[in-house]
Amino acid sequence: RQRVLSGVQPTGNLHLGNYLGAIRNWVEGQSQYDNFLFIADLHAVTLPHNPAELAKNTYTLAALYLACGLDLTHSTIFVQSHVPAHTELTWLLNCITPLNWLTDMIQFKEKAVKQGENVGVGLLDYPVLMASDILLYEPDKVPVGEDQKQHLELTRDIVNRFNYLFAKPDQPVLKLPEPLIRKEGARVMSLTDGTKKMSKSDPSELSRINLLDSADEIAKKIKKCKTDPTRGLEFDNPERPESNNLLTLYMLLSGKTKEEVTTECQDMGWGQFKPLLTETVINALKPIQEKYQAIMDDRGYLESVLRHGKHKAEAVANQTLAKVKAAMGYSTPL
Ligand code: AMP
Ligand code: TRP
Repeated sequence: RQRVLSGVQPTGNLHLGNYLGAIRNWVEGQSQYDNFLFIADLHAVTLPHNPAELAKNTYTLAALYLACGLDLTHSTIFVQSHVPAHTELTWLLNCITPLNWLTDMIQFKEKAVKQGENVGVGLLDYPVLMASDILLYEPDKVPVGEDQKQHLELTRDIVNRFNYLFAKPDQPVLKLPEPLIRKEGARVMSLTDGTKKMSKSDPSELSRINLLDSADEIAKKIKKCKTDPTRGLEFDNPERPESNNLLTLYMLLSGKTKEEVTTECQDMGWGQFKPLLTETVINALKPIQEKYQAIMDDRGYLESVLRHGKHKAEAVANQTLAKVKAAMGYSTPL
């Protein structure tokens, strides 16, 4: 059975981009794979964070993973900081990663500009931590949204460099992972600007729909979302990014095919389409929200899931770490 690994940071609310770009794909493929899915709380401190929120957001995200349909027979769910091997491998890989590989990362450049003087070393090192997250579990596939593609490429570069430096030519120590990026939903766009991706860090709440938004909030956001003056909705017209984005949301959340949605909506005005989209989003999120509430009401269960996850994850991660250290020539701990 092939293995899958992925994670999301516990920073703020999950939105439809996180769901459609990542989590929904984990859930859909889960029975084919052996899945390791974690909460990236070490990544969550690469930008200034609020200590009072970190643990709470970690539990919220774990509950959302389960509410979205991850099931424990196929998936191991754990918290990154509970498995120290992630931090330790990061140090080892730091020492073989050329600095300019990191300063070239698009996401670093974007985030660093926004932070001004307040850029910590952790923000630069974020992709090496991500590479460690991945490589410890030797996954075949890493399902992520489009924005993580460059970090996956860096991970592959690190693997090749490590194996070149420390492995025998036909016996690689680290395993090359493949990104798994679905076309549909890989880049959900902002509701207020169809040319920008939906993001947790957009200052406007109106730009995104969160998985835990109430029906009223969802209705309000869709009512106010950006449209265009053209009548009739269409996919794939670069002049009409909002039309493409909202139709894609409708398609993915209604479960209809692209052809069905095209036929249904090509003659609709926005005034007719918006209520339809609103109802579809509300109905799609309702079961997730109900399940989320039930899980949050049972803290003991959630803790047992994460405790179990930590043990299963650690067993795999520690083996890889030991292999890496042996290849680099470390003495065995006494
Ligand atoms: P983050 O919120 O940065 O922790 O992202 C968690 C996961 O959601 C990653 O796999 C991202 O690629 C994915 N993701 C984030 N924003 C979007 C978006 N607007 N569209 C599609 N996927 C996204
Ligand atoms: N950097 C990812 C994001 O922001 C989250 C993440 C951390 C991740 N480590 C990972 C995703 C390992 C996949 C694999 O979305």
